[in-house]
Order: sequence, then C-alpha cells, then structure tokens
Amino acid sequence: MDVPKLITPLPGPKAKALIERDAKVVSTSYTRDYPFVIARGEGCVVEDVDGNRFLDCAAGIAVNSTGHSHPQVVQAIVDQAQKFLHMSGTDFYYEPQVRLAETFAEIAPFDGPKRTFFGNSGTEANEAAVKLARYSTKRYGVIAFLGSFHGRTMGSLALTSSRAIQRKGFGPPLSGTYHTPYANCYRCPVGRKPESCAAECVDYLEEQIFVHLVSPDEVAAVVVEPIQGEGGYVVPAAAFHQRLRELTKKHGILLVCDEVQSGMGRTGKMFAIEHFGVQPDMVTIAKGVASGLPLGITVARADVMSWPPGAHASTFGGNPVACAASLATIDLLRSALIGNAAEVGAHMLDLLKGLMDKHAIIGDVRGKGLMIGVELVRDRQTKERATEERNKVVDECFRRGLLVLGAGRNAVRLSPPLVLTKPQAEVAVRILDEAIGAVTGRS
Ligand SMILES: Cc1ncc(COP(=O)(O)O)c(C=O)c1O
Repeated sequence: MDVPKLITPLPGPKAKALIERDAKVVSTSYTRDYPFVIARGEGCVVEDVDGNRFLDCAAGIAVNSTGHSHPQVVQAIVDQAQKFLHMSGTDFYYEPQVRLAETFAEIAPFDGPKRTFFGNSGTEANEAAVKLARYSTKRYGVIAFLGSFHGRTMGSLALTSSRAIQRKGFGPPLSGTYHTPYANCYRCPVGRKPESCAAECVDYLEEQIFVHLVSPDEVAAVVVEPIQGEGGYVVPAAAFHQRLRELTKKHGILLVCDEVQSGMGRTGKMFAIEHFGVQPDMVTIAKGVASGLPLGITVARADVMSWPPGAHASTFGGNPVACAASLATIDLLRSALIGNAAEVGAHMLDLLKGLMDKHAIIGDVRGKGLMIGVELVRDRQTKERATEERNKVVDECFRRGLLVLGAGRNAVRLSPPLVLTKPQAEVAVRILDEAIGAVTGRS
C-alpha cells in the first residue's frame, strides 16, 4: 500500500471535528502527542478519518503485534464471537481459556509446571503478581526500579516510577514498596563504564536498601522490566538480570518479570528475559498478547500459584474472544513474526545507528528486535536531555506520515507491528532522519 500518503493538512477537517467533541467529554488525563484520528488499519498502515495514510511505528503503544486487523486474528475473533461472548472463566469453564493457559505453560520463560491467572490489562497482571507474591511468601516488601512503568491502578502505581505526574495527587502509595536504580548503561546510575561493568547498580539494592530500609527476608518480590519500556527503551547489561536472579534466589524472593511491553515476540524472542539467560518465577504479559483485544496474563510457577478459590479473580479476565485472539496471535508469532522482528529489527537498528554520523543530537540508539529507542541529547559529552527537541521530532514525524511515540524524558520509541517489512523500516528511518533534520536545522 502506498504509504505515507497525505492528502489534507493535519489534522484534516474530520479529525479536527472529532477532537473537538473528544475535548468536551473524554477524561482530561489522556496524553495525546499529536492529532491522529484512526479510521482503519491494515498491517503497519493506518488511515485517518480524512483519508491520510501513515506508517505506524507506534502500534497503539506496542499492542498491535500482528499488525492492524490481521485476517487470521479477525477470523478467530469472529468464530469465537459467533459461539459465545462471555461466560466468566472464574465461575465456569471454556476451552479457549484452558488452551491458552496450556500454551503459556509451554512458552513462559521458565522451566517446570506453571499456572496462569487471567485479567484484562497490564496493570491487572502486575496487581495479581504482587498479591500472589505477598500471599505465597507471607512477606510484604516489593522492590521495583526507578524509571519503571507497571501500570496505574493503586497497587501497580506504587511500583511505577516513570514520571512523577503519574503519582502526583494519588498518595500515599501502597506501603512496602522500595525503588532501586535500573541498569541504564548509557547513564550508569553508579558511574561505571560499560567495559568495566559488573552490574554494580545491584549493589545499591543489596548494600543500601536491604541494609537500611527493608530486611530481604521481608521482601516478597523483585518486579523488573527485562527492557525498560516507558522509561526510555533501556536495554540493561545481562549481568544486571543475572545478579538480580542470584540475589533473589539467595533470599527466597520471587523474581517477577514485567513483559507487558517487551514480551510476545517484540524483541525477537518470545520474552525479552530470554536474551539475558535468566529464568524468573513469574511473568506478567498484556499489550501484544491478543493483537489489540484486552487481556492481562500472570504466569507463575505452579507451586507459587496455589492460592485458594476466591483469593483473586476478575469477571472479564480471560474473556473467550480475547483468548481466541491471543491463540491466533501466538500461532502467528511462532510461525513467522518473532523471526521477522529479529531480522527487520536488526536492519532498522543498523540504519538508525548510521544516522548518528549525521545527527549529533542522537546520543544513543539501542534495542532488541522491534523494540528500539533513539535517545536525543543536546551534547554527547554532557548528555543533556533534548526533551523539547524529542517532542518536536515526534511531531515532525507525524507531519510527514510516520507515527512514533516518545519514551522516557528524551527518547523516541519505535515499536511497530511485528509484520513490518524491511522496505517499511527504511521508510520509517528516512522520515525520522528528515524529522530530526527539520528540528535541528541539519538535513
Ligand atoms: C512494562 C509495562 N507494564 C505495565 C503496563 C500497564 O499496562 P496497561 O496500560 O495495560 O495497564 C505498561 C503500559 O505501558 C507497561 O509498559
């Protein structure tokens, strides 16, 4: 399909009219970076209500894993919808939910028997993980990382420390939650160089938090994003995850990997933690798991998920239509799309690294598969964050027909559907190049 194809000024008249209606009635808490109003989508291409066509490298915040309205996913949804829409898997039984739990027992990134809890979103998946960790360990403490995002309901919000505005006005947060530095190797929190790093950032947890704030034998879980998403698409050193695993094992703490953004094939493996040679005790999943239908998944070691009937449940969790969409999604991921994410992602990463020679504002390009961050700085030495410039680059991309989002304070995130082709990746990089040139005055 011919993309991008812009036929009106942006926003066009129909988009403008809808945005005016939205402004009167929809919650003021939503952050909209630019005025895109979707009418339809196919693969990586989305069309707005005025007929403008965009290349989508945002995927509804890393959700449309199989592309917009993949025919096999749509067919699975239609087939299930014609049978029944809902029966509450917490009170009754149905095959799609059981089959999906069997599938996660097979693919979740740790050995041994597993059980799955079904919710509707990422935040619910993390709520379930924290409740289960407290219940099964009989401990209250939870460790999370600075810059992390785990959701916005009250329990998950206590873990989230991405932006202060997300917490402001909602305190006090759930007690017993402690934050420690994440392995942001471009901005090492403990002043190391990647060449000599032995994940000393984990020392902070061991020698500060466990000494001064909470005894490790009162800590139920360490909750960590294998690759930090909202925090800026930050890829840690493998030693970070490996040391966390050793430390949690030593103290009988459960290691929970939040794969809500990094999971389901996005990084070129089914789960991002598989890149680091570490097996967690629990994994939380949402976003790309059902190609756009709401579904939240918490998979745990079977011996950990042994809470009694009534301890935790959700009316809509594991909705049969969402489960059918997820089963179709997983088939597509396994048959081709994880491989495509690895291959096209590596190509895109190379092209983006190439832009560093041309644009001094690019401080760092990092990522795995199709989870790629481009961090913008005013000065490569001081690494002063180019936040305003980043926001302008995101807007300039939109004006040129490319949808991207920001991540963290000054990174551009590329999280396209995993069906992205190499030619489409090249178009995206060309537009990003032009957008950066327009913002910095260097084309
Ligand atoms: C790593 C991670 N965890 C949890 C969430 C929360 O997911 P949801 O918005 O579906 O509640 C997000 C959302 O961006 C996320 O990126």
